Amino acid sequence: MQVKTYELSNANGMNVTVTNVGCGIISLKVPDKNGTPRDVVLGLDKAEDYLGKHYYFGVIVGRVGNRIGYGRFALDGKEYRLAKNDGGHHLHGGIEGFDKKIWTVEEADAGKIVFSYVSPDGEENYPGQLTVRCTYTLTDCNTLRIDYLAETPTQTICNLTNHSYFNLEGFDAKDIYGHVMQINADKLTAVDEGLIPTGEYYAVEGTPFDFNAPKAIGCDIEAAAAVNDTGGYDHCYVLNGQEAAVVYVPESGIKMTVTTDMPGMQFYSGNFINGSVTGKGITYQKHSGFCLETQLYPDTVNQPGFPSCVVTKDKPFKTFTSFRFCVN
Ligand code: BGC
Repeated sequence: MQVKTYELSNANGMNVTVTNVGCGIISLKVPDKNGTPRDVVLGLDKAEDYLGKHYYFGVIVGRVGNRIGYGRFALDGKEYRLAKNDGGHHLHGGIEGFDKKIWTVEEADAGKIVFSYVSPDGEENYPGQLTVRCTYTLTDCNTLRIDYLAETPTQTICNLTNHSYFNLEGFDAKDIYGHVMQINADKLTAVDEGLIPTGEYYAVEGTPFDFNAPKAIGCDIEAAAAVNDTGGYDHCYVLNGQEAAVVYVPESGIKMTVTTDMPGMQFYSGNFINGSVTGKGITYQKHSGFCLETQLYPDTVNQPGFPSCVVTKDKPFKTFTSFRFCVN
């Protein structure tokens, strides 16, 4: 199948470029406080580059995004072993996850694009066929909405999210420290040193992880990094409601509101970006973008107390996330 790019645009000067490789968002242009468009996502030069090695820039990760501890899980009493592509653990769907697939474009116009992909039974050792549909809609209210639908004729597991790295000053800005973040969550999933949930929750109040009141990302990032050696924020927040996060940066005046029906959101501050990937004329560095990955909790398949990622014939994976942009 051919690798291609597509454009979405609206009446208010927003413009989004996407590719059928991993449903990758290559650029996302939003008018800033002066009405000048700024590209607010880190991205690569061209669609083909998304087939190569990078940090999951802008793509859909799956079949199960985030980590599965020790690459192991059981479903219906049968044990499955997955690739350990993140130290001893499984990350973002394995060696060749959904981010590296060339998706079919079912329909495309200026306001909407529908991607689909059929993941065969046994792909990356996951059981059951999974048919996935991912729709990006750009509205005139400057909202980019992502709708996910994944269906199986049998039984499997699924946890899809988009892995865009944002920088609301522009993809070419130095870092994310000046972004003022608010996350609607009182706790996060406590993790061990391999970033695998222990099954317990960690109350954020009074810690560097508390974003209930708006706070600059740079304010406590070093203190957060010291807690479990992640190099910054890399944690799944347990959301209090559908309005998951609001991020604003005074320099451009751009504000982004994230809304979802998912119970969790991984706030990842781009800690492992290390100057080895170049795109759009920029060599990306540590903390040059942040991800807000709405999702079920990490390793949820191995945690009976967490919301279930099991998908059956009668229970598809169906969820949405939207990113709304305005200027302050
Ligand atoms: C994870 C990070 C990981 C990164 C890979 C994020 O979703 O939380 O731990 O390193 O993806 O780009």
